[in-house]
Amino acid sequence: MKYVNDLFGVLCREYFDTGISAELKLELDNGIIMNDFPVKFYVDTKELRPLENKFLNKTRGRILDVGCGPGRIGLILKDRGFDVTGIDCSEHMAYVAQKRGLDVYEMDINKNLPQDKFDSFILYGNGFGMPGSISNIKSLLHRLHKISNSNAIIIAESNDPNHMTNKIDLDYQEANLKKNRYVGYRKWRSISGEKAGEWCTWVQTEPALLKQISKETGWRISDGPEYEKDSQWGAYFFALTRK
Ligand SMILES: C[S@@+](CC[C@H](N)C(=O)[O-])C[C@H]1O[C@@H](n2cnc3c(N)ncnc32)[C@H](O)[C@@H]1O
Repeated sequence: MKYVNDLFGVLCREYFDTGISAELKLELDNGIIMNDFPVKFYVDTKELRPLENKFLNKTRGRILDVGCGPGRIGLILKDRGFDVTGIDCSEHMAYVAQKRGLDVYEMDINKNLPQDKFDSFILYGNGFGMPGSISNIKSLLHRLHKISNSNAIIIAESNDPNHMTNKIDLDYQEANLKKNRYVGYRKWRSISGEKAGEWCTWVQTEPALLKQISKETGWRISDGPEYEKDSQWGAYFFALTRK
């Protein structure tokens, strides 16, 4: 395999610039390879899933789209008349989102956040697990609190490890517990043909843990968790309101 830093971002930018949509797969750190959507799905999809839309309707005021990718959500909100800023750690994702009309900061959310104040934060695309560890999620919520106006809201999506049905996921969870890792921990990398990106970690958070983390960081669950019908990953949506 040839290592390509930020392979997912590189391929999204390639699709945006040339129209070539590479095939994308995910490799787990136990060697299992799973199909992903083709790259163009992440750039072109305009239709929101019903729960994505339902929770997005709760946003208000100035919005920060956290891990905005190529701008799928941020641009929909901008079209609805909101003042939206995106942040993403990938220079290529930031490039695509910017070219498509979103104001974007290129930033790693585990290191920096914009210093402006916001009323709504969006963490979609399973974005609640994006910080990669439970302590990083707590740190992010704490820092979002600092840049939020009173009555601010976080709208997010996660996967519930207790609602997963696929054998690959259940085997991975069992291995996590044997290794004393959190049940919803996941380490993976993007691959495409002979190219492989960097290893990333993600946390699929159980609602009980979500409740505890929110309480510790100045937020409370104000809506949800609401589960997506028939999701094999136990995808769920929720809103946190600033205490
Ligand atoms: C699956 S995409 C989701 C994009 C978008 N939120 C959506 O729902 O369409 C995840 C995005 O998170 C970004 N990301 C991952 N880790 C990040 C971090 N630590 N800081 C900022 N962005 C991050 C990736 O570069 C990628 O663009």
